[in-house]
Order: sequence, then structure tokens, then C-alpha cells
Amino acid sequence: MPGAIYAEGLVKTFGDVKALDGVDLDVPEGTVLGLLGPNGAGKTTAVRCLTTLLRPDRGRAVVAGLDVLGQPDAVRRSIGLSGQFAAVDEYLTGRENLQMVGQLYQMRAKPAKARAAELLEQFHLADAADRPAKTYSGGMRRRLDLAAALVVSPPVMFMDEPTTGLDPRNRQQLWEVIKQLVSGGTTLLLTTQYLEEADHLAHDIAVVDHGRVIAQGTSDQLKARTGGERVEVVVHDREHLSAAAAVLGGLGKGEATVEDHMRKLTVPVTGGAKLLSEIIRELDGRGIEIDDIGLRRPTLDDVFLSLTGHAAETEGTEGPQSGKEAAQ
Ligand SMILES: Nc1ncnc2c1ncn2[C@@H]1O[C@H](COP(=O)(O)OP(=O)(O)O)[C@@H](O)[C@H]1O
Ligand SMILES: [Mg+2]
Repeated sequence: MPGAIYAEGLVKTFGDVKALDGVDLDVPEGTVLGLLGPNGAGKTTAVRCLTTLLRPDRGRAVVAGLDVLGQPDAVRRSIGLSGQFAAVDEYLTGRENLQMVGQLYQMRAKPAKARAAELLEQFHLADAADRPAKTYSGGMRRRLDLAAALVVSPPVMFMDEPTTGLDPRNRQQLWEVIKQLVSGGTTLLLTTQYLEEADHLAHDIAVVDHGRVIAQGTSDQLKARTGGERVEVVVHDREHLSAAAAVLGGLGKGEATVEDHMRKLTVPVTGGAKLLSEIIRELDGRGIEIDDIGLRRPTLDDVFLSLTGHAAETEGTEGPQSGKEAAQ
């Protein structure tokens, strides 16, 4: 039986851009799928197809047991959607925004009011409830948008980059709210550009690039594919780089990469903290002085680099890629 969110061979083209190039997904009921990918990967297009806002050129989707193309109205009644671009009315207060959503879903005035009050409390917006939404901070707006998607407690939820642009504290708060929601049995598809976010919230992660799912699994499985943990060493003298690289190459799980200008070496490892002290001893024994050493888990960039051969280009990050494009 297909899961609460199921897609098969979704294709969507805009002019000559293939936004979706045959996407398959299957999200078991009560679990969270993190759709992870850089800008332009096709995440929003996938969410829009699954939530009836966009008709795919090809493929099939079933959400909450309903055919997305055949029964769009019924699908809409069974899902909540929190968009990348918040659908909050600036001039209404937080409370009015939530009550309005209740009324759109044909709730009676009294239950709509009660539900709004409950959500305002849950999303830490009670103090600001009667201020117009235009006076809210970015984090408050995101929480209001999320609350609006939950007015009718849908069994299936979609969240498109719920925390992009939020500061770390607001992001953490939102993660707590999302965890609570999911512990109540909601099935969730969440898109994000942050591996860390998918790590915290998702049971399964599908990595999307150029409209295709290029890898899928738990976050541990994906990280293992990129070589597990890494040790980073900064040596004091540039002349020691090649000797240090030999040590790291010997103890690590592959070749060490060297960033010459930063005197930094990175090597994938297994063995964690124990190996770290071994590396320190070994470097010390050869008289290689180090300025810094640390163990770190793979980042989104590591996963992307290993899966796609190019680094993730997140919003607001000036990577080498954008420089190259500008030069063309
Ligand atoms: N309405 C549209 N018209 C034209 N191109 C679009 C439209 N929506 C998305 N695209 C293109 O499709 C690709 C995927 O976009 P999108 O799904 O928004 O990616 P993501 O959400 O992962 O950043 C991008 O190249 C984007 O420019
Ligand atoms: Mg998007």
C-alpha cells in the first residue's frame, strides 16, 4: 500500500527548464520526509504538484489515500500547506489571521476562535496575538504561517523551507513545534536547504538535484555515503602540510584534502575521538605543530559534493559557482 504521500514519475517542465524530471516518493504514514536540495532543485515544484497547486506534465500522486489529479478538492481538505512565501495577511492581527483560516474551512465562529487561541499559545504568539501581522518579526511570521496551516489539524502536512532566513534561536523553536506536531501522528513532507534541519526532523531524507531524487535514506545512511566523520587539522607551518597529509592519509579512510592557503587538511575517518588522539600523538611525534584540530560530521556541502560533484549553492552564499557564472 502506498504511504500517506506517494508520487511516481512526476515530470514538470517550464519552457526548457525541467523542474521535475521523474520524481518518485513514498512517505509512510506518521513519518517525516525531508526533501533536501539546493536552490532550483525542484523542491517547491514538487510540493506544488503534490498539493494540487500545479499540474504535473506526467506522473501520478496519491496523498492521504486520494488521487491528486483526480480528486484535488478532497486532497486540499486533507492537507495543510505552509509555503516558502508566507500567506499571512499583513493588516490583520495574528488572531484574526487564524480565525479567518478557520472560517475559510467552514468552521463555526466559536470553535474557530478557540482553535486560534490554542495555536497562538502553542506557537508562542499569545502576547502578540492582537497586533497586526505587519509588526511581527520574520520568526513570528513563520510561526503564524505554520499555525495557519494547522487550524484544521490535517493528517498530511507540507512545509516548504519553513526555517529559511530564520536566526538559529527561531529555527530551534520552530523545530520543537514541528516535533510536537509529528509526535501527534501527522505525516509531514518538509523541504529544506539545511542537512542539519533534515537531520533533526526527518526520518528519511530524499536529496533532490536538477529535478531528480539522487539519493534517499536516513541521515546516517547519507552521511555514511559521504565518508562519515571528518578530521580537520590546521598545521602551524606550511612546510609541514605534506608530512601531515601523509599521517592523515595513513590513519584516515581516504586521501586527505589540503587547503594550502589555510594550512588546513581534511580527511574522512571512522573511529571518532579515539582516532583524534591517535592523530595528535602521531603528528606530535613527528614534530608537526598544530594550531587547531577537530572532529566534525559531514555538512550539507560534503553530502552534495560527494553526491553531485558540485557544492550546494544556498541562498545568499557566494560560492565559486556563482563567480564562474558571472564570468561567462
Ligand atoms: N513558474 C515557473 N516558471 C518558470 N520556471 C520555474 C517556475 N517555477 C520554477 N521554475 C524553475 O524550475 C526549477 C525548480 O524550481 P523550484 O521548484 O522552485 O526549486 P527549489 O524550490 O528547489 O528552489 C528552477 O530552475 C526554477 O527557476
Ligand atoms: Mg523552493
